[in-house]
Amino acid sequence: MIETSLQGSVLEILIANPPVNALGAGVRKGLERALREAILDSAVKAIVVRGTGKFFSAGADISEFDNTIPDPQLPDIINLMETSPKPVVAAIHGLAFGGGLELALGAHYRIATPIAKLGLPEVALGILPGAGGTQRLPRIVGVEAALEMIVSGAPISAAKGAEIGLIDKLAENEDLAQQATAYARTLTAPRPTGAREVTADPAVFEQFATKNARKIDGLDAPKACIEAVRAAVILPLAQGLERELAFFHELVVGQQSEALRHVFFSERMAAKIDDLPKETTPRKIAKVGIIGAGTMGGGISMNFLSAGIPVTIVDMAQEALDRGIAVICRNYEATAAKGRLTTEQVGTAMTLLTSSLDFGELADCDLIIEAVYEDMDIKKRIFARLDEIAKPGAILASNTSYLSIDDIADVTSRPGDVVGLHFFSPANIMKLVEVVRGAKTAADVLATAMDLARRIGKQPVVSGVCYGFIGNRMLLPRIDGAIDMLVEGATPQQVDRISVDLGMPMGPLQMMDLAGLDLGWHRDVSRIESVRDALCAAGRWGQKTGCGIYDYDDKRRPLPSPAAQSIIDAFREKSGIVPRAISDEEITARTLYVMVNEGAKILEEGITQRASDIDVVWLNGYAWPRHTGGPMYWAEHLVGLEAVVQNLNAYSRSMGESFSLSPLLVRAATNRTSFEDARGKLGAGS
Ligand code: 3HC
Repeated sequence: MIETSLQGSVLEILIANPPVNALGAGVRKGLERALREAILDSAVKAIVVRGTGKFFSAGADISEFDNTIPDPQLPDIINLMETSPKPVVAAIHGLAFGGGLELALGAHYRIATPIAKLGLPEVALGILPGAGGTQRLPRIVGVEAALEMIVSGAPISAAKGAEIGLIDKLAENEDLAQQATAYARTLTAPRPTGAREVTADPAVFEQFATKNARKIDGLDAPKACIEAVRAAVILPLAQGLERELAFFHELVVGQQSEALRHVFFSERMAAKIDDLPKETTPRKIAKVGIIGAGTMGGGISMNFLSAGIPVTIVDMAQEALDRGIAVICRNYEATAAKGRLTTEQVGTAMTLLTSSLDFGELADCDLIIEAVYEDMDIKKRIFARLDEIAKPGAILASNTSYLSIDDIADVTSRPGDVVGLHFFSPANIMKLVEVVRGAKTAADVLATAMDLARRIGKQPVVSGVCYGFIGNRMLLPRIDGAIDMLVEGATPQQVDRISVDLGMPMGPLQMMDLAGLDLGWHRDVSRIESVRDALCAAGRWGQKTGCGIYDYDDKRRPLPSPAAQSIIDAFREKSGIVPRAISDEEITARTLYVMVNEGAKILEEGITQRASDIDVVWLNGYAWPRHTGGPMYWAEHLVGLEAVVQNLNAYSRSMGESFSLSPLLVRAATNRTSFEDARGKLGAGS
């Protein structure tokens, strides 16, 4: 895990722990030994620490955090490095994250390649940098830059690192080995970071916290990060390090960090398909076709264009194409204006885009994604046509959000090539892609879809075929519950507050207003069969008409609406329903626990591979708060499955005959086990 090689008077210590050079116990042991030997060896005048493979290091081994971390401890190794009487250089390529960057901060000098990235992403794991990062980074770059990096967790480029003094030397190219040893040879004395002092206006911490209040509210780690950086200003290094470590130990056993670590590993696990033969080779995707230049088609196209993959969009009318391309262009310009892309990158992306009214133009595409509206007949017609024109081996995908991929595949002569790729709106931004596996979808088609999703920066999750797949199927009982409770007497604010209090950006009713209450509406103003019909008939379609369940101000903030309330009241009266007080418990059961119940059914039916995949869907597609781990984790670890079942039972009468408890959920609750364990027992035939 640690290799050393003497290059003249410079000892190179190489971290070799694929895939990401995590600093697990083996690496730490090797590193400590190599450093001690180098310090004692009179032939060694300077030391370079470098990583092999793709990265310098992705930091501490996160899998160690569930138990006591074995010795030697990373902070001790970094202290040893910092107090070395010989200059130590950290040579960074790829990325230095978390403990990896902290290791580099303990070195006396840092050289980095031009495309290297530097970051302290610990906050995303619900912890803070616990190996000196909060004490040494401010000493090098100052308090404000350090707070920004540590509290946001966002990485910076090597160039930015050089600008703020974090990087002493930018390598000329990616071939770092020789440049690093040559640099080390020029250094004659150590330069311990801890010897530096940092000052700051005491007000800066409160100002920072106030400015970021919306992002950090309710989260433990960012607050600890701010306090730890404050310690760097007011305490000597040794005491500051002690305070940092105390925060680390407190956070790492906390609920939020446990949930966020679950998220970290679940997201990576979700990208894997358990039953694919090992030898499955993904197909090559060099060109993509998109059918439909609407909002979804345009958004989906942008993902491929940004990843350097040429796209041809086809639509029925030139006007639709022109409008779609103009929207793509505007979106790119907005991204460039925010500094997320350069004008040059936008230009390159746009040159990869072609459009046509002719389906025949898709003949040379390796992947064709249909993104027209949800109508089975239209989709079937499109796939029958694609079957005629697509080249052999092309993957034919549908972006359907509800419909059966099997029914769509059946109209083609090549159902093995058909797969669902359900992107979420706005498709250029939302990370989730549900990869829908039809009964006949070929293994290499699935492997390609998973690989490609990651290549374009998405989070893939596999779903089997059912109405709404994983995410939207769970959304349905949540929406029904929310709407029904309005009619039964709850106010919209009361219903939505439960989800917002949990940490979601909005509640189910606000979400409906955002998506449009008119989605799926029959458009007959005289036919009022639901409160939704009544609102739509009154022109209250949601944010798009400026009013829906709520009224909206010019900043699109929801306001209680007397007009909507009187429509709801009138509908209630007409339906002969007597309003009653609805408790927070009932709202929780009927908007949140019902989702967990549906998730358990999805798991039980084998629609999803794992309970954690359901979490990943809701975290990345519906803004479920990450620090609660996702709906299934939340129910299992933070609420308790017995309480979930009890509450669902308590309100089952109000939910009507269509409601039924998932046997898997009941079994897990009764046996006090996890969903996965309960599923194992079901699978065993009990
Ligand atoms: N510890 C343990 N395993 C890690 C790891 C880490 N720090 N970082 C990545 N891995 C594992 C992943 O789980 C995955 O395992 P799998 O193949 O079995 O699923 C494998 O390495 C590859 O990871 P990715 O699929 O994420 O690879 P990518 O190339 O897409 O991304 C990365 C690489 C950007 C480095 C990404 O893995 C990442 O962000 N890692 C976490 C970085 C991080 O949070 N570092 C801080 C750790 S905490 C810390 O350092 C505490 C310190 O302050 C004391």
